[in-house]
Amino acid sequence: MIKKLGLAAIVLASSLFASSEVNIYSTRHYDTDKKLFKMFEEKTGIKVNVVKASASALIKRIESEGSKSPADVLITVDAAGLYKAKSKGILQAIESDTLTNVIPEKLRDKDNNWFGLTKRSRVTVYKLGTGIEKELSTYEDLADPKFKGQIMVRSSNNAYNQSLLAAVIAHHGEEYALKWAKGVVANMAKKPKGNDRYQVKAVANGIGKIAIANTYYIGKMIDNKDVSQAEAVKKVKIFFPKFENGGTHINVSGAGIAKYSPNKENGIKFIEYLASSEAQNLFASRNFEYPVVAGVPISDVVSAWGTFEDDNISINTLGENNAKAVKIFDLAGWK
Ligand SMILES: [Fe+2]
Repeated sequence: MIKKLGLAAIVLASSLFASSEVNIYSTRHYDTDKKLFKMFEEKTGIKVNVVKASASALIKRIESEGSKSPADVLITVDAAGLYKAKSKGILQAIESDTLTNVIPEKLRDKDNNWFGLTKRSRVTVYKLGTGIEKELSTYEDLADPKFKGQIMVRSSNNAYNQSLLAAVIAHHGEEYALKWAKGVVANMAKKPKGNDRYQVKAVANGIGKIAIANTYYIGKMIDNKDVSQAEAVKKVKIFFPKFENGGTHINVSGAGIAKYSPNKENGIKFIEYLASSEAQNLFASRNFEYPVVAGVPISDVVSAWGTFEDDNISINTLGENNAKAVKIFDLAGWK
């Protein structure tokens, strides 16, 4: 009996002293995540603390905090952000059979510094009833003068656009990419402003006929409390463009463990949780993203948009070509 009590005391003491929290630095800006954090807390008893900011701000913060950084997990909404974090040396390799087993190789870092957790494609969204869909085909074609005054797209400081241009560079080289970016700029209906939803709303309201946006925003606009979004999305439809020699541009939102993570075990547990079917189902059903884990279904809303083939370039290329993309956007006058 005494022996038993002694053991219980030790277990109690160690659980009191054991760190039972995890610090997440996240760029994700979606309501589903709050729910996921809560579900993880309830499941594990590990408290989730979140710092939200842009990828570049979070990366800078982790760098300046150095070895005293409280960051355990860095989550970004774009593969280039994770690539940048790795190249700055602020991540570390994650040893997790769970992650390497369920996350496809092409959606993670080759040294396991980060893992893609959801997939999103960047597509065109056209105004119904205009007939413009008959003209839509490839990404390359968006630079054709036939679309003059028709394209709504956000500014070039946005990671999603930088990764799209990084993919253009991967397919055709820098010279072509500059010509392409200039062509798209010449076709813009308005100077870039606002987020992806803003572009979709503009097109719905007759400003241009084609918006460039990430797929999940269309899902999030349906039945939105903001009536202007819910009404706008009824007037548009997604068209999945392809690259001439590839597929539809995809990107990942993913996560890595910070180099000086004080709660590394909890951090890995957390990322593993995001790769669980429970979390993957939530990403798919509530945030309209494409799950990365096989067997997890996409939502009915998403499946109604139709199917596409992923582009064939490596997701790492988006990071490798990011600096070039930023430079080319600048040269092309893409604000
Ligand atoms: Fe987003």
